[in-house]
Amino acid sequence: MKTGIPGFDEILGGGFPVPTACLLIGGPGTGKSIFALQFLVEGARKFNERGLYITLEDSADALRYTASNLGINIEELEKSGMIKIVEDPQVQNSAHLAEFIQKHAADCKARRVVLDSITLFQALQRIDVKAMREELLRLISKLYEMNVVLIATSQRGYSHIDNIEYITEDYLFHGVLTLMKIRSNATFERCINIVKVRSVNHSLKVHPFKIGEGGVTIYPDTSPFSLSGSNDDKRSLG
Ligand SMILES: Nc1ncnc2c1ncn2[C@@H]1O[C@H](COP(=O)(O)OP(=O)(O)OP(=O)(O)O)[C@@H](O)[C@H]1O
Ligand SMILES: [Mg+2]
Repeated sequence: MKTGIPGFDEILGGGFPVPTACLLIGGPGTGKSIFALQFLVEGARKFNERGLYITLEDSADALRYTASNLGINIEELEKSGMIKIVEDPQVQNSAHLAEFIQKHAADCKARRVVLDSITLFQALQRIDVKAMREELLRLISKLYEMNVVLIATSQRGYSHIDNIEYITEDYLFHGVLTLMKIRSNATFERCINIVKVRSVNHSLKVHPFKIGEGGVTIYPDTSPFSLSGSNDDKRSLG
């Protein structure tokens, strides 16, 4: 499945196998929600694939506001049934994440599913590592029935790019992407790295990306900081 996110399919080696459960990890403001939303928007616009966004973080309205500031008319895609945003508080009472997602994905015939975030799900359920692992394994086995690509966001800050500590759930998912901000002198640059996507010959490089009109743009052939030659660039990345 091509994602349609500019530059991303190139570093992914073409696209995701279906099904894939992919974890998108990063610190606050690294672009997790925007990347995940754009995955659905590009799917709807470019490939006529329906998407489901389960948000446990922001309200649906906050997500619509973010989208409209990026020039994305999410309401139009909602009206046409191509994207469904669910902020169902029921998930807070249901330890059964797999069934919750399966039901909603079937209702809207989704081929792409976003769960934002898995960290909050775990916190809301107050479930321990073992129970979470079992729940994730159930969810991932159900994906084969659903035949969807799932992107789940995970809140994780790391002090240094070489110093990311991976945890249990990272090993369960088929794919792991990290979003980060790398500092050089007095400026930061947004970067993405594909840690793994099973069965795929993906890039192992750290690639710069920007957030702007339309969402995320990844630069497959550019090294970090080679874009930020001018002061204007440096300000926009900060
Ligand atoms: N319209 C815009 N134009 C340019 N950059 C934007 C725009 N909207 C948001 N951003 C950038 O995106 C960041 C937020 O991205 P996003 O909400 O996807 O992050 P996140 O990783 O989901 O954060 P959190 O962990 O807090 O949920 C903002 O801090 C800002 O830098
Ligand atoms: Mg977010």
